[in-house]
Amino acid sequence: MAITFENLDNDIAGRTGKLGAGKKVIKTPALLPVINPHLMLVTPKELRAMGVEALITNAYIFSQSGQYSEQVRQEGLHRLLDFDGLIMTDSGSFQLSVYGEVSITNEQTLSYQRDIGSDIWVPLDIPTSPDADRLTAERELAITVERLREAKELFGNDAPLAGPVQGGIFPDLREKAGKEVGDLGFSFCPIGAVVPLMEAYRYRELVEVVIAAKRTIPRSSCVHLFGAGHPSMFALAAAMGCDLFDSAAYALYAKDGRYLTSHGSFKVDELTDLPCACTVCRNRTAEELKSAHDRTRLLALHNLAVTLAEIARIRQAITDGTLWELVDDRCRNHPQLLSAYWELLGSNAELEAFDRASKRRFFYRGEESCARTEVLRYQHQLARLRLGENVLVVCDARHREGYDDVLFFKPPFGPYPVELKETFPIGPSEIPPWNVAMIRQGCRGIRMLAESHKESKIMVTGLGSWNKIFWEEVGNTAELIE
Ligand code: GUN
Ligand code: ZN
Repeated sequence: MAITFENLDNDIAGRTGKLGAGKKVIKTPALLPVINPHLMLVTPKELRAMGVEALITNAYIFSQSGQYSEQVRQEGLHRLLDFDGLIMTDSGSFQLSVYGEVSITNEQTLSYQRDIGSDIWVPLDIPTSPDADRLTAERELAITVERLREAKELFGNDAPLAGPVQGGIFPDLREKAGKEVGDLGFSFCPIGAVVPLMEAYRYRELVEVVIAAKRTIPRSSCVHLFGAGHPSMFALAAAMGCDLFDSAAYALYAKDGRYLTSHGSFKVDELTDLPCACTVCRNRTAEELKSAHDRTRLLALHNLAVTLAEIARIRQAITDGTLWELVDDRCRNHPQLLSAYWELLGSNAELEAFDRASKRRFFYRGEESCARTEVLRYQHQLARLRLGENVLVVCDARHREGYDDVLFFKPPFGPYPVELKETFPIGPSEIPPWNVAMIRQGCRGIRMLAESHKESKIMVTGLGSWNKIFWEEVGNTAELIE
């Protein structure tokens, strides 16, 4: 049975939805914990009890395993792992990117993934290193696309096949890859080869390549961000439309004695307190955790709890329409995340096309909020207002008469007619006392109103000491009156 994806709520380019594969259906965004059969800190059964609906494991490791390769062929993955949820398998591609070669072909790994009962199969794509030059990235992308075509030919359109999107750090190649994978009919599209970017904190480039890929991946496809495991960047990735994450980070960090939080990680040895609500942290002191005989396992359980909670928080934020506020919060925890956030905001015109019309609220959180998709959309819609000849924009509360239309002013959005006073975004937006950034953005709204209503005379009053910003942003397109 083919892979299906149903989109429920939208926020920015993020979405909640349902991913179906075989008889399994899971909520998205979702985290797929990585399970390595040879070193399980947490069992699949325990994952299930923590609310995990899907996990990912590596078919190549199974196929090379003296211990498990026969058993998994006989029992299948679900029985061997004792997990009745959705199981996705990766091919040998990650090993290929680390060791340079694998002893398996595209057809072999896919047949193997089918034979062991995997719910989602990944072809042998080539994860192009971020250091690769353009020619290499192009050549490797061509091979990947060829293997995806071969996979469809060999296993049919109904096989639960993933179509990885490669292209290195070149946005136009990522765009091309997204288009080709979509044209081949893949409804499940992992974005690949981003692990080295994330490991090096190159989040700005990550945003560039993900947005480029999302431009052409069909909207109806489920998007997996391959190897994204640190919870501090999930909100950012979800805002770009990534629906799935897979994490080995919970285990890798645990082995390294590191304690994850949604906004960064700590060396457990440096902790004097445990700032977390999970059972591991509430049932012991920091000292007890550090010296526990099963400390690595306890850390893994904590890291998982934190990671799963962040995914739940993202799903709730998307449902509420408050994802920008969560992204703003998370991206202030590291300068490279802040840089990525600015890159994301710089793509607001593209993101706006995905965003939904009405949300629960808009909280202003600083200058960055001025570039949110809701502000952009509101200001574009100003052109649709029907106005008379003489229009006054009143920026203070004093009432004026003698105009065909009187509009009010709410920064960072700009002018609004009284009919919109209670509707989103004017009504449910909360702003602190006015500041330069929001007045500047609001004045851009006045300018857009004036430029889209050339037959009307737009006059503005009540800006008081903010007049200077009016001159800078509006100039002579509208008239300032006392
Ligand atoms: N795991 C992390 N990155 C990748 C990738 O690009 N391709 C595959 N198949 N697995 C991955
Ligand atoms: Zn905890």
